Amino acid sequence: MLDIKRAGHSTLTTPDLEKMIDYFTRIVGLSLAAREKNRAILATKSGLEAIVLERGGVAEAPRLSLQVAPGSDLGEVASRLKKAGLKSERRSDITPGIGEALAFTDPKGTTIEVFSDFNFAPEDNTFAGVMPIKFGHIAYQCPDVKGIVKFYCGVLGFRVSDWRSDFFAFLRCSRDHHTVNFLRNDKTAIHHVAFEVRDWSDIKRACDLLARNDIKLTWGPIRHIIGHNIAVYHKNPDGTVIEFFTDLDQMHDEELGYFEPRPWHQDRPQRPKVWGDDTPSNWWGPMSHGSPQHAQALAQPAAAPVHHGLQGAAVKNGARKPAVAQARAKQAQKRSRASRKSRRG
Ligand SMILES: [Fe+2]
Repeated sequence: MLDIKRAGHSTLTTPDLEKMIDYFTRIVGLSLAAREKNRAILATKSGLEAIVLERGGVAEAPRLSLQVAPGSDLGEVASRLKKAGLKSERRSDITPGIGEALAFTDPKGTTIEVFSDFNFAPEDNTFAGVMPIKFGHIAYQCPDVKGIVKFYCGVLGFRVSDWRSDFFAFLRCSRDHHTVNFLRNDKTAIHHVAFEVRDWSDIKRACDLLARNDIKLTWGPIRHIIGHNIAVYHKNPDGTVIEFFTDLDQMHDEELGYFEPRPWHQDRPQRPKVWGDDTPSNWWGPMSHGSPQHAQALAQPAAAPVHHGLQGAAVKNGARKPAVAQARAKQAQKRSRASRKSRRG
C-alpha cells in the first residue's frame, strides 16, 4: 500500500484553453506558472501547482497527481503497485514543478500520477481573483463507488472519513476531511473541483467577485454537515462545478480517530461514520434541515440537488424511500402553511 500525503494538481481538458486560462487567473486567482501551445500550468499565488489545463474536445479530468513522502523511491513505489497488480510507467517533467512521476490508471479510468518531490512555482505577489490557498479536493461520479473506495484505501492508503448512505464516499489522505469524493452514478465523470480559501471573509470576497463578474452562485453559502465546510459553488466557463470552501473538518491525529471538536458538530466526538440517507445537505443554507425546499427535494431525489451540492445526484433505481420523503414533504408544507397563517394572524 502507498501512503499518499496530499493531492498535487488535477489535469482538466477544455475546448477553450484561452477562456479557461482567463477564468482561472482572473476569477479563481491562480498564477499562470507556465504556458505551452496546448497546455497551461496554474499554481496558487504561494506556488503550489493546482491545475493543469489541456486543450481537448470536452471538459474532463483525465489525470490527478498525488504526492507520497518526499525522498520516496519511485522504483519502490512501482514495486508496491506491481504487488497490487498494477502496471505503472515513469514519466518525466509532467509539470515544471514535478520532474519525476509514476503513472497508472485507477479503476474508473483516471490516470494517477504519483510523485515524491516537487519545486514550487515562482512567487507571484500580484493580487487578482479569489486566490485560494490550495487545490482542496476533487469529486468524481462513477458506477462502482464501493470498488473505487476499496482501491483508494487498499492501494493508495486513503482513509474513509464519511459515507452518505452507500452512494457517496468522502476519503482523506491528510488532516483534511476529504481530498477525493466518489458519488455513485451510471456514468463516470468529474463532479466538482474544490479550492480552499483562508476563511469566511474570503468566501464573502469570492461571492462579491463572482457577482461582479456576472457569475451566479449555483449553491451556497452553506455549511455542510458532512465535512462541515462552509462552501459556495458556481460553474466555470466549461460548465464544471467549482467550489470554494473553508472550515473543513480536520483530523489532527489518526490514532485519536476523531475530527477536531467544533461547536457545529452533531456528535462528540465526531468520528467517521455513515450518515443517514436523509441527512440534510447543510446546516443553514438553502435546503437545510426542515425547510420545505429540502423536504420537496427529498421527495424528488433523482432530480434534486440535495446532496452536497449535487445537481442531478444519481440515485440507483430511482427515488429513495419515496414514502418517507413524501411524508416529509407534506409535513414541511403543513409547517409552512401554519407559519404563514400565524404570521397573518
Ligand atoms: Fe466539495
